[in-house]
Amino acid sequence: MNLPNMQEAKIRGKQKVNYLKHEHNYEPVFKGKKFFLKTYGCQMNVHDSEEIRFYLNSLGFIETQDMNKSDLVVLNTCAIRENAHDKFYGFLGRCKHLKRENPDLIIAVGGCMPQQSNVATTLKEKHPYVDIVFGTHNIHELPKLILEKKKEQDIEVYSIEGNVYENTQYIRDSKITAWVNIMYGCDKFCTYCIVPYTRGKQRSRHLKEIVSEVEELKKKGYQEVTLLGQNVNAYGKDLSKDESFANLLTSVAKTNIPRIRFVTSHPWDFTDDLIDVISKYPNIMPYIHLPIQSGSNKILKLMGRRYTKEEYLTLFNKLKTKIPGVSITTDIIVGFPNETEQDFLETLDVVNTCQFDGAYTFIYSPREATPASKMPDNISLEEKEQRLRRLNELVNKYSLNHNQEYLKKIVKVLLIDKCEKEENGAFGYTETMKLVNVKDAIDYIGQIVDVEITDAKSFSLNGIIKKI
Ligand code: SAH
Ligand code: SF4
Ligand code: F3S
Repeated sequence: MNLPNMQEAKIRGKQKVNYLKHEHNYEPVFKGKKFFLKTYGCQMNVHDSEEIRFYLNSLGFIETQDMNKSDLVVLNTCAIRENAHDKFYGFLGRCKHLKRENPDLIIAVGGCMPQQSNVATTLKEKHPYVDIVFGTHNIHELPKLILEKKKEQDIEVYSIEGNVYENTQYIRDSKITAWVNIMYGCDKFCTYCIVPYTRGKQRSRHLKEIVSEVEELKKKGYQEVTLLGQNVNAYGKDLSKDESFANLLTSVAKTNIPRIRFVTSHPWDFTDDLIDVISKYPNIMPYIHLPIQSGSNKILKLMGRRYTKEEYLTLFNKLKTKIPGVSITTDIIVGFPNETEQDFLETLDVVNTCQFDGAYTFIYSPREATPASKMPDNISLEEKEQRLRRLNELVNKYSLNHNQEYLKKIVKVLLIDKCEKEENGAFGYTETMKLVNVKDAIDYIGQIVDVEITDAKSFSLNGIIKKI
């Protein structure tokens, strides 16, 4: 087992990337056995769980939503903030209890948490009932680890991750929208963030491989793909010049898949070429998630974000001008070390200027081995919570304003699934990524329909199908 730390992660950044191909050859030796899979964290983890499902199904397992009836529990963990840890350990307690009743139960822990050195050690010392520990770089080893499950806890967390695998198979959650990984890892090393340590250095897939995956998905009837990466617009910086994100988006747009989205973009990597491509192709959705993190230049510098408030605002205005109707959402952290009331007011000021369509807001959480964790965490929890409340109030006001602009308008909605709240209802998303609950739409799931918006709330819209 190799434990990642800052130094090591930076050295790993220099490693050569190997492009390999998965071979899939499994016997369904666990036929009839059941697995329970719990996923924490971001879209990356949700998509990794789709890969995990493929391996478990190939071994003969079938999925159950009832953990008490399972023979195998897999927890796909997240390490981004401390509360992610707390939730995980709470759940692990339930698994321990279950194992007392059923000693044959296999418990496997994967994802971002075991990539941290302290977690791998804690799991080994304090939670010996966990059978298998695997990381984000060796998900494909899971079948082997389950088959070889030894008496002693089996820890396989790779930190040597200079690999990109093609021919990865998934059992996708949806038959309408699909996640497509375009790259792995992140080279930005924002001072607060654990991701470069848990996911490794940036490794981009080759453009032609991504395009053929999208073509396959289109053939299968998928209506939408979301290109995934921690830093999607840095795509290709580790490849040849022709394999840029702007070129990738162009090639994906030319497949004519109806809808293309991408997350997450970093302001630092947003080129004019890219803006031109987004505005040129109607199947690239006018929605951009563009985290700002803070409105204070002092804090942005301490965060290592590589842009100033002014540069962010220039980019923001360019996007609004060049991509008509674009909706922009963001991420904001409050209570970063040394954030004064004045710094926080600058964040509120930027929110007032940008009037984001939405924002994910977080209280700063120190993460082991990151540079920010060495800075004094000098703002009280009370103050952090108070800032978060004030920020959310403002953010929600603008979300509601934006949503109200949709009232009585007719918009295109891709219907994803049935809506629990309403009989025969279905929900879906506008091109600008607004959630819409649509009446009597159950028969149109999987289609893009015209919807008249009848009601607007902060986080969703209601509508009816409009036949034109
Ligand atoms: N790669 C993306 C998202 C990374 S994680 C990006 O760069 O924008 C999603 C969000 O979690 C971040 O944008 C940030 O706002 C938040 N986050 C990351 N580390 C955090 C920490 N230590 N404490 C609080 N929030 C954090
Ligand atoms: Fe983390 Fe920054 Fe990379 Fe986003 S860009 S994953 S916040 S290090
Ligand atoms: Fe969490 Fe790992 Fe994603 S830390 S946010 S699951 S990359």
